[in-house]
Amino acid sequence: MGGAVADAAAAFGIRTMTAMEQLRSTTREAHRSIEGLVFAQALMRGTVSRQAYIGQLEAYRRVHVAVEEALERSRDQLVRSVYSPSMRRSGDVALDLQALGGTGALPTEVEEVVSRVEARVAGDAGAGLLGRLYVLEGSRRGGLILRRCVQEPLGLSDGELKYFTGYGEGTSQALDGFTERMNAALSGALDEAAAIEGAQRMFADVAEILRTLGDCKLAA
Ligand code: HEM
Repeated sequence: MGGAVADAAAAFGIRTMTAMEQLRSTTREAHRSIEGLVFAQALMRGTVSRQAYIGQLEAYRRVHVAVEEALERSRDQLVRSVYSPSMRRSGDVALDLQALGGTGALPTEVEEVVSRVEARVAGDAGAGLLGRLYVLEGSRRGGLILRRCVQEPLGLSDGELKYFTGYGEGTSQALDGFTERMNAALSGALDEAAAIEGAQRMFADVAEILRTLGDCKLAA
């Protein structure tokens, strides 16, 4: 539906897009700016150093653990209707890190950013957490592309690419199921707005991490 019609419908409280369509459209710009970051460009060009790649995985591991812990602590019905521990990704990142010889250490600047992100995630609840989950689940699509960009340049075996592989060929099907559960859960305008804010916080947090990793000159 066109912008003016959608605006008029919104003024009367009529919703013309699903919650997931809203999430996608309100975060499109944030996604675009992430793709433009030095670190993301290095990933896409396959010029990222092994050390930087490991740093990125370590930061993501911490983010996934923080979001999963918050989701699994939650008693919120919306959260419970969408999330299940089978969606965890922290295990896959940990396996990649183990195979790549990650030490768990991060450059001081990145450590500071990641600690702040963990605190912000712990402060989120309900639909806001689902917004964060939307960003991490959606990133599975980009992961499949990045997998192809880094495998050869970094000489990674399949066993070292579990995180970017995720559900592999089952990705679209899994994300369709996620989309359905999210749309059913976020049927109220207030919940939808809270989810959008959570997704925007998650994109801002990931952007800060990738910007800081880029500033560390870890990217070749
Ligand atoms: C760095 C390079 C990246 C590339 C090349 C990339 C690429 C893509 C592509 C091709 C899609 C699918 C678009 C579509 O099907 O319409 C996508 C979707 C998405 N990506 Fe990325 N991505 C990148 C990074 C990220 C990061 C860092 C995040 C967040 C952690 C992220 C989150 C998302 C989300 C939330 C979606 C939307 C899923 C949906 O609503 O269907 N992406 N990405």
